[in-house]
Amino acid sequence: MKETIFVTVLWFCSASCTMPYFTTDTYPVTVFFTEGPSTPSGTIIHTFHAEDDETSVVPFLNYTYDPISGQNMFHIEETNTGTERTAVVTLKEFKEFDYETQDTYKITAYAFDGILLSDGVLLTIQINDTGEIPYLSPATDSQSFEIEENAEGSIIGSPSFTIVDTDGNQDYHTWTISGGNGSNFVSINPNNGTIVLAADYDRDNTSYYEDIYVDVNITDKYDLSVTTTYFIKITDKNDNIPQCDPTLYTFDIERNTSVGTILSSINCTDNDLTSPNNLLTYSFVSNSANTEYFSIDLENITLAYINDLIYGRGPYQLLVQVSDGGIPSYSSTVTLTFTIPNATTLPPTTTLLPIPVYDDISYDSTLPALIIIISIVGACIVGYIMILCWRWHTFGACLPRHCPTSQQCRMCCTCCPGDDLDLDRVLSDRAVSDDFMQKKGSSFGLEAPSSRTKISR
Ligand SMILES: *[C@@H]1O[C@H](CO)[C@@H](O)[C@H](O)[C@H]1NC(C)=O
Ligand SMILES: *[C@@H]1O[C@H](CO)[C@@H](O)[C@H](O)[C@H]1NC(C)=O
Ligand SMILES: *[C@@H]1O[C@H](CO)[C@@H](O)[C@H](O)[C@H]1NC(C)=O
Ligand SMILES: *[C@@H]1O[C@H](CO)[C@@H](O)[C@H](O)[C@H]1NC(C)=O
Ligand SMILES: *[C@@H]1O[C@H](CO)[C@@H](O)[C@H](O)[C@H]1NC(C)=O
Ligand SMILES: *[C@@H]1O[C@H](CO)[C@@H](O)[C@H](O)[C@H]1NC(C)=O
Ligand SMILES: *[C@@H]1O[C@H](CO)[C@@H](O)[C@H](O)[C@H]1NC(C)=O
Ligand SMILES: *[C@@H]1O[C@H](CO)[C@@H](O)[C@H](O)[C@H]1NC(C)=O
Ligand SMILES: *[C@@H]1O[C@H](CO)[C@@H](O)[C@H](O)[C@H]1NC(C)=O
Ligand SMILES: *[C@@H]1O[C@H](CO)[C@@H](O)[C@H](O)[C@H]1NC(C)=O
Repeated sequence: MKETIFVTVLWFCSASCTMPYFTTDTYPVTVFFTEGPSTPSGTIIHTFHAEDDETSVVPFLNYTYDPISGQNMFHIEETNTGTERTAVVTLKEFKEFDYETQDTYKITAYAFDGILLSDGVLLTIQINDTGEIPYLSPATDSQSFEIEENAEGSIIGSPSFTIVDTDGNQDYHTWTISGGNGSNFVSINPNNGTIVLAADYDRDNTSYYEDIYVDVNITDKYDLSVTTTYFIKITDKNDNIPQCDPTLYTFDIERNTSVGTILSSINCTDNDLTSPNNLLTYSFVSNSANTEYFSIDLENITLAYINDLIYGRGPYQLLVQVSDGGIPSYSSTVTLTFTIPNATTLPPTTTLLPIPVYDDISYDSTLPALIIIISIVGACIVGYIMILCWRWHTFGACLPRHCPTSQQCRMCCTCCPGDDLDLDRVLSDRAVSDDFMQKKGSSFGLEAPSSRTKISR
């Protein structure tokens, strides 16, 4: 068949040969098609029409493709109408344009009448990019963040995923917050999805919730989008110092104040929302004076020890530290001043504590004075009794039976001359000389024991 046509052509052409040509379009021709399913297979891309002016000559067509792979993309259906040859270019079955793979195809068509070959005509097929829907890698429906309450502008976090978009490098993505109960508190960097606090977030104010969320919309330049959700937990931070009102306390320790009495209740609060950030502990400042007299039971300062307090003194100072349990911990100091008014009644005699070690400020001086006076009086009484006993041993009587005249008494209560008269009487019975008597009158000291020996003889 083909052989026959060629022979025919050759036969006619011998008379007057003309070059075949393409009709209808002014080449080069560019056509646009959108990638993806919106250009289905079978879509007519272009129709070539070729003729030859020689009578009953219909040219043949052949094609070149750029790139060569275009050969696999297109199907060309030729028809001979008797006067012209048409070639309908369609997208091949099961083929789809993909801008990212190939954005342009070129087909050059030639017409040949058996002797003469036409110039090529150029068909350019331009693929329009539609954009693909971006997706997240790894696939992420939601992501969680946890931060402490903080000031406006503080970074909450950044996405843990990357955006995959087959639209390639020319594409860009815009991050927006499209919903969620935290949208008033969170703002997003439109270029990279990093979220920050849009306002100061104060958990200590109960109108700020611990859990919020925002919906994040990631949109490409084709307005194609993917969404994900950020869950954000905002926890309480130890950002309040314990506040004490008042910061100065005064009290008295009276004689009738007993151990265990609450002397002051310290009034402090911490505005942090949660424990231990708002859990207060009370302790004496480590180098504070006077801490030995008190104990501390949470906020209450009680009297622990009174034995060595000096009444009528003061004021003294005591420092108490109030700390919260946060990390790091904050603390405040309160000052207590106390006086010990002069005694009006006796102090209680019992105390829970051991024998005191006396110190500078606390010492009741009346008690030792009393002890010294009692000791002196006691010593005098004992001494007098001893003298009486000696007299009884020596003279057989504690006191003289009669003391003639007080003038005759000597200084000592033991030297009443009557003693000597008693002695005279005893001695005269034994015929003692006058000399001895006079001697005895002046001194009975050494001779007295030997005199008594004479009596007993
Ligand atoms: C088209 O066919 C002619 C005649 O057979 C041939 O000379 C020419 O090289 C062909 N062109 C292409 C691009 O195949
Ligand atoms: C393809 O893109 C061209 C140039 O950008 C435009 O003129 C044409 O209308 C587009 N065609 C389609 C089908 O989108
Ligand atoms: C996003 O951009 C902001 C501002 O330039 C920057 O502070 C932040 O670190 C960026 N985030 C990431 C994940 O690069
Ligand atoms: C708590 O927050 C609300 C809303 O922001 C505000 O109106 C209110 O004054 C705040 N309360 C305190 C005690 O700061
Ligand atoms: C916001 O949503 C979270 C999670 O669904 C919820 O736990 C929280 O109570 C909500 N917060 C507010 C302020 O409605
Ligand atoms: C995301 O943003 C795009 C562009 O503004 C919008 O068309 C789309 O509806 C949004 N998606 C959601 C889930 O809000
Ligand atoms: C305790 O402190 C609060 C807050 O400052 C104050 O309102 C209250 O009057 C104080 N109570 C006493 C007993 O001082
Ligand atoms: C202690 O004595 C003072 C006066 O000396 C008196 O005002 C006070 O009420 C007494 N306290 C007690 C607990 O008896
Ligand atoms: C402190 O003293 C107050 C008033 O007496 C009392 O109500 C409170 O229970 C005491 N606190 C403790 C921890 O003992
Ligand atoms: C206590 O009494 C002493 C002596 O009587 C006196 O000097 C002192 O000022 C008094 N102290 C007070 C606090 O009344």
